[in-house]
Amino acid sequence: MKSKLFDNFTFKNGVTVKNRIIKSAMSEALGNLHYEPTEGLFRLYEKWADGGTGTLITGNVMIDRKALGEPRNVVADHDSILPFLEKWAEHGSKNNTQLWMQLNHPGKQAFKSAVKEAVAPSAIPFEGKIGRFFHHPREIEKEEIVEVIKRFGYSASLAKKAGFTGVQIHGAHGYLISQFLSPRHNQRKDEWGGDVKGRMKFLVEIYREIRIQTSEDFLISVKLNSADFMKAGFTEEESIYVSKELEEEGIDLLEISGGTYESSPMSKAQQKNSTRIREAYFMDYAEKLSKAVHVPVCVTGGFRSRNGMENALDSNAMDFVGLARPLAIYPDLPILIEKQVMNEIKLDQRKTGIKKIDDLGMLEITWYGQQLRRLAKGKITKPNYPVILSFLQSLAKNGKEILQKQRSNS
Ligand SMILES: Cc1cc2nc3c(=O)[nH]c(=O)nc-3n(C[C@H](O)[C@H](O)[C@H](O)COP(=O)(O)O)c2cc1C
Repeated sequence: MKSKLFDNFTFKNGVTVKNRIIKSAMSEALGNLHYEPTEGLFRLYEKWADGGTGTLITGNVMIDRKALGEPRNVVADHDSILPFLEKWAEHGSKNNTQLWMQLNHPGKQAFKSAVKEAVAPSAIPFEGKIGRFFHHPREIEKEEIVEVIKRFGYSASLAKKAGFTGVQIHGAHGYLISQFLSPRHNQRKDEWGGDVKGRMKFLVEIYREIRIQTSEDFLISVKLNSADFMKAGFTEEESIYVSKELEEEGIDLLEISGGTYESSPMSKAQQKNSTRIREAYFMDYAEKLSKAVHVPVCVTGGFRSRNGMENALDSNAMDFVGLARPLAIYPDLPILIEKQVMNEIKLDQRKTGIKKIDDLGMLEITWYGQQLRRLAKGKITKPNYPVILSFLQSLAKNGKEILQKQRSNS
């Protein structure tokens, strides 16, 4: 019997996507020193577009070169980037693949090596071990908030002009929008803070600005945390409230994730028994959400088997399966699943065995990021590559980036 994974889906603007598999955003760090996409990025996206995924969401593209998340980000803040974006769109939309650009501002979650200073809704630094990687932020001014909103709209307009078929607003994982949503990180007393309505104003205004600067029928998605999993953080109830409002505003797809760098369940299997059985980390939440909204939903995090993905779709709590790490190792996984060549993949949590390093919680990002860069060079992935070697190489690489003054200072 044909798997539901390969059913097509028609969005409200009439655009049909060929299947229910979405490649979730993975930051590639493959921009050049002028923040433009490189040949490696084109090669990587062509590989994914040839691999059968219906929708490819790019790794986070920044809306302002003064606010990089990490060295080597692509930044869409000037029209000189258009020819590069056009090439990216051409490669990534081959085989009738949907290609959406994820847009992001890191706020205070920007590596020290990437920015001179960081802004946040309130001047509250990250706590714990992770804090050492990031600056102590200053409170963003009202005029700057308005400027950031305009920039999101402008970046989206460049994506549309270049041939991307949609954009995704990164509202999850502890970056600026997620900082605004969180009562822990947003303690403003003005109209941009306070209750959930005030804290979500920033996200809603960004959505509206993107609509204005693109068009009524351009596909706009939001990636949202089901919760931050932090004391006094953004909760499931608040996330459902925000989702309902976004549905009313007219968004085309909601992608559910969860956690931040401080808590990070977005990439860690939680130990709840129901999660182990159902693979996906946020299925319980998706079921609650599906009772509250009718907007198309993608759930991301933890899917590793054909059965797990099909059962999740059968539950009717979601319309799309989001995959990140599996597609970093097997870029043609959808084809392998469709042909029943691969029904399950095993991806252990990346650990060096050295507690001090493992506790930093960055290994999933550095290890998989390195696999992406192998694909970008036209090499095959190495699922058994030693985690410690990848960690050391990434340390050396980031050191080099600092020396090259990739830090945004203009
Ligand atoms: C190397 C790497 C980079 C990532 N970069 C991003 C990003 O730029 N934007 C984003 O929303 N999520 C990012 N994520 C999170 C993934 O989109 C996804 O939510 C998470 O990996 C859980 O899904 P999975 O279990 O299928 O990997 C990244 C994950 C990895 C491994």
